[in-house]
Amino acid sequence: MVSRYVIVGLVLLLGACSSSDEQGISKDPKEVDLVKAETVFRSMCAICHGDDGKLGLAGAKDLSQSELELNEIKAIIKYGKGKMTPFADRLSDEEIEMLAVYIEKFKP
Ligand code: HEC
Repeated sequence: MVSRYVIVGLVLLLGACSSSDEQGISKDPKEVDLVKAETVFRSMCAICHGDDGKLGLAGAKDLSQSELELNEIKAIIKYGKGKMTPFADRLSDEEIEMLAVYIEKFKP
């Protein structure tokens, strides 16, 4: 019985910590990740794709017009395509996932 309360207490404690940086507004991890995704996108992708995904430098596709599925987007980020370099060695799977979700927001 006692250990059960300890576990519940720990869970509550962890929950309180992770939501505090977003002022407790968002408990959806994907929402929080998007803030980080924006930073990563602007530093690693915007050179070719632009802040809004529409720049199209060096033949980069307009991401807001992309018709790819989430999984296809993730594969292109990971393994690259044409002139786009692969990012598998520079981004974790988690970062690639959040970037793919972030890019989806460019679509009208
Ligand atoms: C060196 C310039 C460059 C950088 C940096 C770059 N891309 Fe690209 N990207 C391209 C080019 C060029 C294409 C088109 C590839 C093709 O179809 O031949 C492309 C295509 C894509 C596509 C596929 C779009 C479609 O509909 O076919 C996605 C998704 C994408 N990039 C995401 C990203 C993300 C996310 C990053 C950052 C991690 C990134 N790109 C960084 C040049 C770049």
